[in-house]
Amino acid sequence: MSGAGSPDFFYREAQRLGYVARSAFKLLQIQKQFKLITPGSSVLDLGCAPGAWLQVACQNLGPIEKGGSVVGVDVKRVKVPSAHCDSRVRTVCADVMSLLKGQARALSPQERGFSVILSDMCPAVSGITTKDAALSCELGMRAISLAVGKLNTPNLSDNTVVEKFLSITDPDPDEDGVLRRGGNLVIKFLENEDVQGFGKLCKLKFKNVSWLRPKATRSCSKEIYLICQGLR
Ligand SMILES: C[S@@+](CC[C@H](N)C(=O)[O-])C[C@H]1O[C@@H](n2cnc3c(N)ncnc32)[C@H](O)[C@@H]1O
Repeated sequence: MSGAGSPDFFYREAQRLGYVARSAFKLLQIQKQFKLITPGSSVLDLGCAPGAWLQVACQNLGPIEKGGSVVGVDVKRVKVPSAHCDSRVRTVCADVMSLLKGQARALSPQERGFSVILSDMCPAVSGITTKDAALSCELGMRAISLAVGKLNTPNLSDNTVVEKFLSITDPDPDEDGVLRRGGNLVIKFLENEDVQGFGKLCKLKFKNVSWLRPKATRSCSKEIYLICQGLR
């Protein structure tokens, strides 16, 4: 088998096209379907190592004269890939779980926030399904809180994920999120009973919310992406 169904098709395609990882094809598909990144966008890429999403994000900024920027954050140090990236891309080594909104905002152009936030963060998978899913929810909740700011609990009291994971948003006193009004958010989750609750939560904050399992996702993986468009 040598087509898109063969086990290492996306790996070989990534090598052929100069992407540092097969994950590039996940963002390429998301971008093709939802057109989240436009020329001049300011993009925050959470969990950016080894840098394939940085490459795809930069490709979608358009010509350098259009401006825009991509800031990648990861607990690992990441060298900006030379292919498909230009001077608009930079990386920061930090743990997103302890990154304050003010610190994230300071990374954005003129400290005005980002127009797109991507989170492909994933815990080091232990193989214990419930533990991995819970860690993935914590990372997802952190990305939501960084993006949209303090969650107003009285309005969300029927949402059990908010109760379950609200403590993840606690340490940050800053009420405002770092995603600009009208902005877009993508978050990876490992599928479990709680993920629909995150979809429900995001429906209150965004104009359109969808789920996508990209073709480049390995068949054994439980990953699924929440795509949120147009922050109210
Ligand atoms: C699947 S990889 C991302 C792949 C990347 N999108 C690409 O295309 O090259 C997930 C990344 O999330 C990072 N990560 C996990 N937890 C994190 C955290 N708390 N803060 C920052 N990065 C984190 C991991 O270090 C890992 O590099």
